[in-house]
Amino acid sequence: MKVTTIILAAGKGTRMCSAVPKILHKIANKPLLRHVYDMSNQLENNAIKIVYGHGAELVRETLADLEAAWIEQTQQLGTGHAVQQVSDQIADDDVVLILYGDVPLLKLSTVKSLLTNVTAQTIGLLTVDLINPAGYGRIVRNESGQVEKIVEEKDASESEKQIYEVNTGIMAVSGASLKKWLSQLTNNNVQNEYYLTDVIEMAVAEGVGVVTSQPETVEEVLGVNNRIQLAQLERVYQLERANLLMIQGVTLKDPSRFDLRGSIDKLGQDIEIDINVILEGNISIGNNVQIGPNCTIKNTIIGDYVEILANCVIEDAEIGQGSRIGPYARLRPETVLAEDVHIGNFVEIKKSTVANGSKINHLSYIGDATVGSQVNIGAGTITCNYDGANKFRTVIEDGAFIGSDTQLVAPVVVGKNATIGAGSTITKDAPENQLTLSRVQQISLVGWQRPAKKQGN
Ligand code: UD1
Ligand code: CA
Repeated sequence: MKVTTIILAAGKGTRMCSAVPKILHKIANKPLLRHVYDMSNQLENNAIKIVYGHGAELVRETLADLEAAWIEQTQQLGTGHAVQQVSDQIADDDVVLILYGDVPLLKLSTVKSLLTNVTAQTIGLLTVDLINPAGYGRIVRNESGQVEKIVEEKDASESEKQIYEVNTGIMAVSGASLKKWLSQLTNNNVQNEYYLTDVIEMAVAEGVGVVTSQPETVEEVLGVNNRIQLAQLERVYQLERANLLMIQGVTLKDPSRFDLRGSIDKLGQDIEIDINVILEGNISIGNNVQIGPNCTIKNTIIGDYVEILANCVIEDAEIGQGSRIGPYARLRPETVLAEDVHIGNFVEIKKSTVANGSKINHLSYIGDATVGSQVNIGAGTITCNYDGANKFRTVIEDGAFIGSDTQLVAPVVVGKNATIGAGSTITKDAPENQLTLSRVQQISLVGWQRPAKKQGN
């Protein structure tokens, strides 16, 4: 079976009240249209066609990497008109699948079962029963329960409005039939639009059967029309992610306060995640990892037995086995920590490697540095890596001890097992095994008097 998937995505989405076209609004940081594309892209032997219109340039630019044919619908004259734009790209023996770019949570399994309902003599139509069907096209059936037609809310009679089985808009139909029916559509209706839904009545008239199926959950077929619905579907999506992780053995302290905006490429065992954690991009987590509350972690590889304490912000980093991060630590891009590294509160690390067993526990900035193993960096240490024009590297060799409140003015090398006295400004290499310090001599003034307040003030 060769499938042609047509994703309708030309609409403006007026109710989003946005300069950005609706389908570029995001769930889990991924545009709605990309959700639909990614799902349908998992179908085998499938050519994807996207009908776009509103915000054309921005849409094409944002989603330039999609392997799809883009068909511009310059005027939005209805769902039937949208599909007509693709007519000449449909082969007779294709099965055509119609999806909406603003219905982001539809599942592959639902689509697959819909597709099995299509033959030359049958159409597959995805319907759903809604307690409140207002706004949707209603599925009109005859006494024996067969579908007769779809009637849009605005064209519906009072009794038709009582029907709670609605059209999701998603259907699958053979290419030859669809092309024929598309050419017969008219816009004689309340909205003066070319309704794709009219093909159902045409099919029935020709004796083609309409086979309906329903999704597992209603949420799958809900569309986004405004930002309230966008937020609702975000929560549905996130809860689904959270549930999946729990099934895979992750402890989530509160699944409703967990967000995954990307994918977990590797997942270890006995991972515990506290509340308000956001995982973004590509994440890999080893065994026995603990992540404290309020952490944002993006594109990061986390080794076994790593502990990330509360309120850390981590991006493009690698954290080796047994390391402890935070609370309140910031690991910026290209931070690579080996095993058993301790990064404490208010420490910022950027573009640096830290070897086994080293500790940077308090209030430090380490940028463009190579830190050896078993190094101890005291509180308030700063690598001065930038002279206003260029960046330079700091090298701290194995076993070095950097006293508190030290500035290391790069480029500079602190040798193996060197000790730097507290409060030093190091501008020249510090030799190994020696104490290096730069410090103004301490003096005490005998007989000095502290100023006193003037009388009468
Ligand atoms: C449509 C269905 C309705 C169904 C509902 C489900 C028709 C006539 N009606 O109604 O039966 O219950 O969806 O949500 O099909 N689009 C284009 N070009 C156009 C018009 C629409 O690309 O000219 C796209 C939109 O961007 C959207 C989708 O098609 O993704 C549906 O369009 P919309 O206007 O929301 O259809 P409804 O009136 O809600
Ligand atoms: Ca709609």
